[in-house]
Parts: sequence; C-alpha cells; structure tokens
Amino acid sequence: MYFDTHTHLDDERFQEDRDTVVQKMRDARVSLAVNIGADMESSRKSIEIAKTYDGIYAAVGVHPHAAEEMSDEDIATLAQMSKEPKVVAIGEIGLDYYYDNSPRELQKQWFRRQIELAKELDLPYVVHDRDAHADCMQIIKDSGYFRGVMHCYSGSPEMAQELLKLGFYISFAGPVTFKNGKKAKEAANMIPMDRLLIETDSPYLTPEPHRGKRNDSSYVPFIAKEIAAIKGLTVEETARLTCENGKRFFGIK
Ligand code: NI
Repeated sequence: MYFDTHTHLDDERFQEDRDTVVQKMRDARVSLAVNIGADMESSRKSIEIAKTYDGIYAAVGVHPHAAEEMSDEDIATLAQMSKEPKVVAIGEIGLDYYYDNSPRELQKQWFRRQIELAKELDLPYVVHDRDAHADCMQIIKDSGYFRGVMHCYSGSPEMAQELLKLGFYISFAGPVTFKNGKKAKEAANMIPMDRLLIETDSPYLTPEPHRGKRNDSSYVPFIAKEIAAIKGLTVEETARLTCENGKRFFGIK
C-alpha cells in the first residue's frame, strides 16, 4: 500500500475524469493521499474531495503565489475549515523566489502567519520552497514550531541535515526519478527512513518513465521504486515505511 502525501486532485486538469483517476490510483494500491490546498478556493475544493473519497485527506492553506491576495479574514476562514475532520495539515505554504508571483515581503509575512496558525491549531504544515532556501530556513527557525514537511525537496544535503535536527520530514516527488535529478538523489540518500515521505505533486512533476504526461497519484510507486534503489531496500519495504511515516506525520489512524 502506498501513500501519496501531496497531490492537487482539485486541479482543473482532473475536472473531467476525477472519479477515474481515483479508481486508477486505487488499482495501483495507492490507498492514501492528502489533497493540498494552494489558495482559498482550492482549500475549499480540497475539503470537498476529502469528503467524497475514502482514503483522501485535505490540507488547507495559501501558496506563496497567492500571498498577495491573502487577508486576516482568510486566516480566520482557514481556522474554521480546519475543524473539518479530514483536514490534517496547513499547506501548502512557503516562499517561491523563482516565479515571484507575489512580493517577497508578503510571501514572508503570510508564511510566518500560517506557521503560527498551524501551531495554534496543533496541526502539521507543508512547506513549498523554491529558490528561497535561506529565508525559508530563517522563518522556520524563528517560528519555534517544527512539525513540518519540506515538500518536493530541492535543497542541499546540509540544509536537509538542519531540517532533520529540527524534527522536519523531507518529501520527494518526480524530480528524484529524473536523470538530471542528482541533487535530489543525493539528498534522499542521507534522509533516515523514518523521516522520508513520497508524493506526486500531481498534476505537476510527472516521474519517469511517464515524464511529459499528466501526473496523477497512481504514479507514486515510481517514486518509491527510485527511493528503494537509492536506499538498497525493496519497493515493498519502502512503500510500507513511507506509508507509516505519512500516517504518523499527518496523524492518520
Ligand atoms: Ni504542490
């Protein structure tokens, strides 16, 4: 059994065939997934999806791309949303200096505020960090609240070491399967097996050998296969351990 800890099944690219995708995912023995919110609207959809499908849980939060539109009222709404029984985390939140879709000061402000919110709600949080490693680390450290996962890890082994010391989990997506994914492979190699999560981030970041097609949760076994090869474990063992880690991290029984 596999756990896809980060998917965006609410994405419009799944609008036409969402039921079929969920069936395909179950056929691939992917029994658990967390649908991740990226703005207020997708957070609402995330909850709807979790209510519709067994084994699918929801995270609610605002991505740095949408930081510019965020308000205090949204924080109150997210707190309200988190009362839904299948909401298991705040996310995805963080910093994206690659696209810079929102001014950096606002990205930082709402990243800090949403970590605080996770702390207030006693929930874990899911971090998106693209080309913003130093500021991300600073904000996480300053927050004093470390129940987080660094999703689709793209930092150095040194940064991973720092995150592990704080208590963070580290998650790997499609790029770890890419031929040019040396950095992700190196980082995966040093993450202890009790802190490692796997994810698709679908519909983005399709793993090999399906690169170029739309991604979906049924492809998470390809991430497990790559991690197994890096770690010298069987795919079954990797699936079992990453599943246990995901359940522990998100508090799923
Ligand atoms: Ni994502």
